[in-house]
Amino acid sequence: MATSAVKFSPPKLAQLKPGKLLIGGKWVDAKSGKRFDALNPATGQTLTTLAEGDKADVDLAVKAARAAFEGAWAKLLPRERQAMLWKVGDLILENADEIAEIESLDNGKPIRESRNVDIPMAAEVFRYYAGWVTKIHGETVPVNGPFFNYTLREPMGVVGQIIPWNFPLLMAAWKLAPALACGNTCVLKPAEQTSLSALRLGELILEAGLPEGVVNIITGFGPTAGAALSAHMDVDKIAFTGETSTGRLILEASAKSNLKRPSLELGGKSPNIVFADADMDTAVRGTFTGIFFNQGQVCCAGSRLFVEEKAHDVFMEKLVARAAKIKQGDPLDPGTTMGPQVSKEQMEKVLSYLELGRQEGAQPVLGGGPSKLAEETGGYFVEPTIFDRATNDMRLAREEIFGPVLTTITFRDIEDVVRQGNDTLYGLAAGVFTSDVRKAHRVAAALRAGTVWVNTWNVFDPASPFGGYKMSGFGRELGAHCLELYTQTKSVWVNLG
Ligand code: NAI
Ligand code: MG
Repeated sequence: MATSAVKFSPPKLAQLKPGKLLIGGKWVDAKSGKRFDALNPATGQTLTTLAEGDKADVDLAVKAARAAFEGAWAKLLPRERQAMLWKVGDLILENADEIAEIESLDNGKPIRESRNVDIPMAAEVFRYYAGWVTKIHGETVPVNGPFFNYTLREPMGVVGQIIPWNFPLLMAAWKLAPALACGNTCVLKPAEQTSLSALRLGELILEAGLPEGVVNIITGFGPTAGAALSAHMDVDKIAFTGETSTGRLILEASAKSNLKRPSLELGGKSPNIVFADADMDTAVRGTFTGIFFNQGQVCCAGSRLFVEEKAHDVFMEKLVARAAKIKQGDPLDPGTTMGPQVSKEQMEKVLSYLELGRQEGAQPVLGGGPSKLAEETGGYFVEPTIFDRATNDMRLAREEIFGPVLTTITFRDIEDVVRQGNDTLYGLAAGVFTSDVRKAHRVAAALRAGTVWVNTWNVFDPASPFGGYKMSGFGRELGAHCLELYTQTKSVWVNLG
């Protein structure tokens, strides 16, 4: 229970009003009238309440999206849609301090990260895709015979988008911006743990002048609102980010309904490989960011650390010293470098893995238990933890923990580490630290993952594609690649004979 031992600062700008659904340009209550709580993970206390949308609300949102797709959105000129998307980016930046507070209150991430990473990156994604609106076009094809053949790249139609809680505003931007740039209309379902920044984004989208129904937002739970969206007969595409097992449900729902086009960005257990010839400070910095950024709640977290045996002692000493400086506390305090996990469920999940790691015989060399802040605040804090001397067959090394828990394994040589690194069901990201450029490229080529970082980690740009190999999903977000997800190609034949 929360005690008064630790006082967290109140927000300066964020005004937390009761949330409604955005359907057809209007803010409305759920048909059922039901509501649920938005919690502050740093205290366990209620921030405000949200409308609990379900199938009936999803139906209305899809109708509004269909009407906008066939009506107002299609009638706008590309340069008009471009200006609107750019404006969304502007408005995000103009309100960045306020949105960062909302994000940190709702998700628990440190304000220095929401203010400097999540919010500006979300704006940049809107601006990047604003640029694409005027550049998506088909081609003429030199066919055999007296025909003129050309292709059109057309939007998919109504797009359903289901997002997770780890980067609430940023994931909304990754989903909405490219879909809108391609001319689609959207029904977005934010995660039930973190809906507030998406609702604020909905206001900004209306302010930017997007016609009613182009973006609809249904807050609510996965098995009701999310399932209704993924099973809907009039949704043309479904884009999902979240747990691999939920991804399966999305695929099943698509298969059992109208074969809406799925794209899935799922979990990971990304190998981070540190060779003895690496610059040790660079490798420590990258490894640290790779696992502890965002409380470890990152799909591409470098959660499996492979250290070359002969560098093990030196590297681990530096890494533990760096991680021991983490400042856990009030997410709204600019000095805080680690906040709570997003929910009680996630805290308990992480704690259960700390217990499991010990049982499996790995050695915690940092942390390893609940944080005493959890008791003092009622928040969902766990200790940043580094396990040493693990092996790749442990569950600790095979399952996605999604918390600030690093699992360390040693290796002998390139062949050994490539084999171990690829010995996982996942393939979202990987990284290698070395000063040998040949080794870097060899390993980057051999790793089966959608992103490979060399001598860095967690670097993103709206222009560079991101997505999974193997059970980390399929489809690429960001970059020109993402346009593939949100357009379909029509071939037109004209008889010239
Ligand atoms: P989740 O995959 O259940 O939730 C993500 C989104 O899917 C939420 O909006 C949720 O409401 C929705 N959803 C849930 N069930 C659904 C269904 N049957 N149909 C349609 N939509 C549904 O993830 P959850 O339960 O929040 O977290 C569990 C674990 O998933 C985490 O511990 C972590 O390992 C992993 N995860 C991975 C993420 C990633 O970025 N790869 C993000 C969030 C969680
Ligand atoms: Mg779930």
